[in-house]
Amino acid sequence: MHSSIAIASLVAAVLTCAPAAAQGLQARTFTPEQLKTGAEIYARNCSPCHGARMLDPQGASDLRKFPRGERERFINSVMRGKNQMPPWGDLLKPEDVEALWVYVVAGEKS
Ligand code: HEC
Repeated sequence: MHSSIAIASLVAAVLTCAPAAAQGLQARTFTPEQLKTGAEIYARNCSPCHGARMLDPQGASDLRKFPRGERERFINSVMRGKNQMPPWGDLLKPEDVEALWVYVVAGEKS
């Protein structure tokens, strides 16, 4: 029950920030810590299906091609799961999913 409250408040926060987010997606700032956390969570939980460093996604979707404007869809799919992908809402905190989004958007450029 705790996590659904967290999801509800996350969705509310996302909706509240929507205009700003849409406006400044490229300019959105994130901390190096978020990127690092995202990379770590990705390596632990996501890489078995989506490929190490997002490079070899096998049957799962290629996250390098995930539409950059669809942050809400990313958060929903990760929290609730999608088809063959298990839901992560019980395992990951909203800030973890945010860190994953930073990682996916910032990519493996560095
Ligand atoms: C057990 C394998 C598996 C694991 C582990 C996994 N995924 Fe997935 N993921 C999939 C599959 C399969 C799909 C394709 C689902 C579909 O569209 O049918 C997918 C799709 C996605 C999508 C696209 C959803 C959409 O809206 O189209 C995102 C984003 C995603 N995964 C993120 C993650 C993240 C972040 C993690 C780690 C927390 C993760 N996945 C871990 C199998 C996995």
